Amino acid sequence: SKGNHAHFMRKEIFEQPLVVAQTLQSYVRAFEGEVAIPAADFDLAGVERVTMVACGTSYYAGMVGKYWIERFARVPVDIDVASEFRYRDPILEDGGLALFISQSGETADTLAALRHAREQGQKIAVVVNVPTSSMAREADLLLPTRAGPEIGVASTKAFTCQLAVLAALAVNLARAKGRITPEEEREIVAHLAEAPEALAHALDHDEDIAAMAHLIVPARDVLYLGRGPDYPMALEGALKLKEISYIHAEGYAAGEMKHGPIALIDDQVPVIVLAPSGPLFEKTVSNMQEVRARGGQIVLISDAAGIAEAGEGAIATIEMPHVHPLIAPLVYAVPVQLLAYHVAVLKGTDVDQPRNLAKSVTVE
Ligand code: F6R
Repeated sequence: SKGNHAHFMRKEIFEQPLVVAQTLQSYVRAFEGEVAIPAADFDLAGVERVTMVACGTSYYAGMVGKYWIERFARVPVDIDVASEFRYRDPILEDGGLALFISQSGETADTLAALRHAREQGQKIAVVVNVPTSSMAREADLLLPTRAGPEIGVASTKAFTCQLAVLAALAVNLARAKGRITPEEEREIVAHLAEAPEALAHALDHDEDIAAMAHLIVPARDVLYLGRGPDYPMALEGALKLKEISYIHAEGYAAGEMKHGPIALIDDQVPVIVLAPSGPLFEKTVSNMQEVRARGGQIVLISDAAGIAEAGEGAIATIEMPHVHPLIAPLVYAVPVQLLAYHVAVLKGTDVDQPRNLAKSVTVE
């Protein structure tokens, strides 16, 4: 049941602190400061390359995962949307690790890609939310998310749980390959352990987001900008908005704006900027200023320090807790989910059952 929530999507957004904590519990020994993915007889040290495949929101989780795996484990990661993967005849070396990410575990394109990878001699790892699904059954290395059943068609809690698993996998791979010290691992685990509480703080801003959502309702187009691991979050924000509110939206790498899309900017275009404090903040803000100088209507999502530094002139700001850049993608999922949700509610669309979409896409 939806409990006291108007929609399953809202309920599932609000479950995130709990289900991310639940998921992390299976992968992190917080007290020892270690990750421990359930892969006892799996040779992680031998992994030289990871090939990731997924669709939609699960693909964006993979993009964040690529960033973490390359950063911590220094293992190169290829990533494709599943419908493209087989048809480019990918070069897959014997014994490579192919990683599939899926909420349902039944998405036809992803499942076909999995079978293709197996035929090419790949070891199959699966991050999946439905433990009885086809993908779960066909995995050599099963990495479950513990989000519980997700009813809303737009994926929310499964996504943040996928991020939690991918972060743990990145750290475990890094340790197996001797690329991080126990001290570094302890530090990363401590940051991961802060994620549920940070998600709860992000949810405290629900009413602020509801109050500014009317600014987005009249828009024909909306852009989302981010850098580094927050670039996939911009893509995810745009996907959430288009699928439930039917407003056209695009996510861009903030630095890519000036190579074309900036031509779209005028005073009718809201531009949602995801800019947590951290090493990429200044660069993102300078891209934001380029947009503002052309009349773009900025909505800045940042922490208090970021808003104090760069919030002037924005039509709205959404304050997030200050978090380590590692967990920022998890936390910044919340405001983009809530923004899409409130815009859709104001527009009166069917939030849980958007037109033309199905929860599990079982055709290729
Ligand atoms: C977006 C959404 C879809 C799914 C995609 C993959 O909100 O839900 O983009 O993420 O269809 O589905 P799974 O993860 O079940 O393979």
